[in-house]
Amino acid sequence: MTTPLSADAMKRAAAQAVLEFVSHGMRLGLGTGSTAAHFVDLLGARVREGLEVIGVPTSERTRMQAEGLGIKLSTLDETPELDLTVDGADEFDASLRLIKGGGGALLREKIVAAASKRMFVVADATKEVETLGAFPLPVEVDRFGARSTRLHIEGVARGLGLEGPIMLRMSAPETPYLTDGGHYIYDCAFGAIDAPETLAERLQAIPGVVDHGLFIGLATAIFVAGRDGVRIVGDVTGGGL
Ligand code: A5P
Repeated sequence: MTTPLSADAMKRAAAQAVLEFVSHGMRLGLGTGSTAAHFVDLLGARVREGLEVIGVPTSERTRMQAEGLGIKLSTLDETPELDLTVDGADEFDASLRLIKGGGGALLREKIVAAASKRMFVVADATKEVETLGAFPLPVEVDRFGARSTRLHIEGVARGLGLEGPIMLRMSAPETPYLTDGGHYIYDCAFGAIDAPETLAERLQAIPGVVDHGLFIGLATAIFVAGRDGVRIVGDVTGGGL
């Protein structure tokens, strides 16, 4: 009898499968979160064996991890075009649309993904949904006027028939969470989002919204690890700047 894989082992299996697409000289976006951390860890081992790549981290957390592993790092200012970004997701659907930002790094993750020819997402099968929205959508806002911005977010949601609590993310009972860019995050528990493209457009148009966790048209392939192995959704060859 085989022992069922733990969630963590599945995340590592997805990360391992992506590593086969990494080759010498690649410029890589390095994602944030527990699944992306497996990829960075495995990449570090390959670098120790002699693989040469350049990484652009999507968060301070990932930067510290990659630095500790001896992965050569750069910034988007020095290296504005990347070959491949590897990142996790909080949810994904069959059209490769994602919700990200559970780990608070959505803005840099989106900028880095947009600078990449391809974005491979690593996830365990529990992240797959028919309709996005069971995971509360993170919306990153400027601290200035955050309560007004929140009212606008509510208005946009109402216009699309979306309701549910909009919660300021906290890092301690009296202390709002701050992103690497010094912004707040509102976690919006809207439930099923039937029109993610429209919601994405309308949220982005609100002054004060820095970005939101809907990643649409960015992921080119998703490596989904389940108990029976890793399945690839999408196209591992597609994408281009
Ligand atoms: C970080 O801001 C997020 O977008 C992560 O990529 C996402 O939360 C997935 O994290 P896990 O791999 O830890 O589930």
